Amino acid sequence: MCGVPALTRLADALLDRAVVPGYSKVGPALRRRWWPADPAPGSMAGRRVLVTGATSGIGTAIAEGLLGLGATVHVLGRDRAKTDDLVARLERGIPGGVGGRGRADGARVVAEVCDVGDLDAVRTWAEEFTGRVDELHGLVHNAGTLPAERSETAQGHELTLAVHVLSPHLMTALLTDVLSPDAAVVWMSSGGMYGAGLRADDLEFTDGEYSGVRAYARTKRMQVVLAAEWARRLPGRHVYSTHPGWVATDGVTASIPAFGKVMAPLLRTPADGADTTVWLLATRPASRPPHFWHDRAQRPSTLGWERGQDPGKVRRFLDQVATAADVPG
Ligand SMILES: NC(=O)c1ccc[n+]([C@@H]2O[C@H](COP(=O)([O-])OP(=O)(O)OC[C@H]3O[C@@H](n4cnc5c(N)ncnc54)[C@H](OP(=O)(O)O)[C@@H]3O)[C@@H](O)[C@H]2O)c1
Repeated sequence: MCGVPALTRLADALLDRAVVPGYSKVGPALRRRWWPADPAPGSMAGRRVLVTGATSGIGTAIAEGLLGLGATVHVLGRDRAKTDDLVARLERGIPGGVGGRGRADGARVVAEVCDVGDLDAVRTWAEEFTGRVDELHGLVHNAGTLPAERSETAQGHELTLAVHVLSPHLMTALLTDVLSPDAAVVWMSSGGMYGAGLRADDLEFTDGEYSGVRAYARTKRMQVVLAAEWARRLPGRHVYSTHPGWVATDGVTASIPAFGKVMAPLLRTPADGADTTVWLLATRPASRPPHFWHDRAQRPSTLGWERGQDPGKVRRFLDQVATAADVPG
């Protein structure tokens, strides 16, 4: 927020710390007055982006926003029929895309099918993808889940760990060679991660009673730490984590219905939830660790009274992720 007057910066930070106004639709309604300019029309022309979790909510809105800027968007879903249906709808142009831009000339949409909870499926898909795609300018790890009960994937990993952490980590590693020198990688975390410290033990959530909400918050914290690690590993590229605010999506209705009902009048639209991701991909702003963004500005990734991450704990966490995903550390 360089160049923004100090009082405006203070107002923006207060919105963030007060949580409800900042995360709700009030946040973008106010911040739009001072946040950085929209990406230029056509700014994603000739650029190729992969979006996971594109068949619903924020992921669909990210795809729409990128198509509105002229990108080729590979929309990844786990169900062939649902993904093909999304492609057909995007090709027709879904009304009300981000900024109401619709689909720009030259924009293209391509279906990708892979269950990102299944690490073997991710390996098979990535091998096939890198065989047909030479260069990727953007990668969005958006697929997300908040399960009611503990379940394990084909490889025996707890579901949220696999979908939010292991699979994006593996996918980033497998796609590194096709990432363009100026590529942007965005990890869709959640403000819920503020309530969870980094865990370097019990990553699979086997100790004590399982809570999907806690597993979600923990793995969303892990995403922020992993994004910062990938920013270090991929110099020259742009790696960010972000949180979309509270957004009216099928995911919220299905997973946390009481919250969705009470907050309904205040929830953001999926386009508002997608806004910062699309803006990051199109403008690739300079960023400093821990690279956590919300509403077009960098935000702290830990609360004021907490210190940054303990490097020893981060190392132990990264080692376990490397082993579980079978990716060299
Ligand atoms: N909505 C919010 O208020 C909010 C707040 C903070 C963070 N977020 C984050 O934003 C992201 C999108 O959330 P949303 O609200 O748009 O949720 P959503 O409507 O439930 O969409 C989630 C997407 O992830 C996909 N997905 C889930 N598991 C998958 C798997 N194993 N393989 C492939 N795809 C899978 C879903 O595919 P299917 O269509 O096949 O189910 C769907 O496309 C998530 O990472 C979420 O944690 C959302």
